[in-house]
Amino acid sequence: MIKKVNRRNFLVGGGAAVLAGGAAGVWSRSLGQTPGSSLSSNGDGWRLSAAKGEAPLLGVNKAPVRVWNYNGAVPGPELRIRQGERLRVVLENGLDEGTTIHWHGVRVPNAMDGVPHLTQAPVEPGQTFVYEFVAEDAGTFWYHPHQRSFEQVGRGLYGPLIIEETEPIRVDRDLTWVLDDWRLDRGQIGGGFGSRHDTMMAGRIGNTSTINGTVPASLQTRTNERIRLRLINAANARIFGLDFAGHKPIVIAIDGQPVEPHELNGPAVIGPAMRMDLILDMSGAPGSRAAVNDVFYEGLEYQLTQIQYSNSPLRSRPLKASISLPPNPLAEPVFEGAQRHEVRFGGGMMGMMGGQTVGGEMGRHGSSGGMMSGGMMGGGMMGWTVNGVSASGHVHDPILTIPRGRTAVLNLINDTAWWHPIHLHGHSFRVISRNGAPTAHKEWQDTVLMAPQETAEIAFVADNPGDWMFHCHILEHQAAGMMATIRVK
Ligand code: C2O
Ligand code: CU
Repeated sequence: MIKKVNRRNFLVGGGAAVLAGGAAGVWSRSLGQTPGSSLSSNGDGWRLSAAKGEAPLLGVNKAPVRVWNYNGAVPGPELRIRQGERLRVVLENGLDEGTTIHWHGVRVPNAMDGVPHLTQAPVEPGQTFVYEFVAEDAGTFWYHPHQRSFEQVGRGLYGPLIIEETEPIRVDRDLTWVLDDWRLDRGQIGGGFGSRHDTMMAGRIGNTSTINGTVPASLQTRTNERIRLRLINAANARIFGLDFAGHKPIVIAIDGQPVEPHELNGPAVIGPAMRMDLILDMSGAPGSRAAVNDVFYEGLEYQLTQIQYSNSPLRSRPLKASISLPPNPLAEPVFEGAQRHEVRFGGGMMGMMGGQTVGGEMGRHGSSGGMMSGGMMGGGMMGWTVNGVSASGHVHDPILTIPRGRTAVLNLINDTAWWHPIHLHGHSFRVISRNGAPTAHKEWQDTVLMAPQETAEIAFVADNPGDWMFHCHILEHQAAGMMATIRVK
């Protein structure tokens, strides 16, 4: 866990590593202890170096896997600051191609949003860029490139960003699980990024799932320990559905934003880019084990990890302390006089293909080398669409312009046979209905996972000026056109 070094953080970080260090050092490493990282301790913030490297995805006893990563580790360092503090990160590009960092879910000023060509020039190899902003919201966020992200993120460039509440809730352990999956072929990452098959269907789904960059060892715990588990889905395309057999996780935040604490009635379903904070009161008997299964895809369920209880309980009964998080300073939507729009997502195999333009980020890059090996289309393809347009690159005419300060209510329609996690930059929105029925908690989210043919209504106050990306976070879908911009001015 990489933090600004002050006394409090130092103590918290050390404690977490010790508590989590049960399984042969795997967990302590996987918690984000990044030996290769260069952390400045003088309050100047962090330096993140994007480069090619390797990572023990299959465990420390197996051959390392060649990846692209930040500061030599997958995930990159866990950046932790307090709400209201300023985050300053110097990105160094040690890759052979341009890159950026996007602070997923964080309401940053537009110029800090990390979208190549739209909010900044790509950071070219050997160059640096300074990101700096004040963390308005507490919560669980993450960072990743926005340049050719289907390959840059897919090869391991991402990391957690935790913004702590000024008065955190009481837990025994604050644990981050960055979930990912990898398509490994003979122990290395397989090629074919952006293949037509992946692109037009569910995206690049892998064959090996990891937690914090390694095939997980078991989670060591003690009866009645209270864990705040911060789940982050960093996969290109896999939707995770975690079932904690026999435990009763309580959801306290979605996409970093507090939600009225409620028990899950089913697995914790987390689409690509989404986060979920759970309170896990470890209710198993001393010495027992429990599976954590990923059950999202029917017929493809598997055990992700397991929970292992030590023989001695931590305490005799669960903690009583409150688990409600204080709200973040988000403007409440005002429905009277709101701007209402319909946004229709289309394309893909078995979807409606009519009327869109073709091209897309992958087409462009495909013809400029590096992409052809995986059966990539060179010249352009029928892609995914937003309101009938398959967008090329990151810069295009906005589909909507919303006056600053006005509430927007968007009726999102998934007119395809596939799932799509739809993400808006620069804002969090309330999900107010699904398929016409009001949602239970009017959840604040920055990414809304839509089932095939589902509709969802979202509402937000457009209070952050700029051009903001609005796209599917299945990174192959995004690259093949399922993206748009929304202008706030
Ligand atoms: Cu996490 Cu536009 O991205
Ligand atoms: Cu999609």
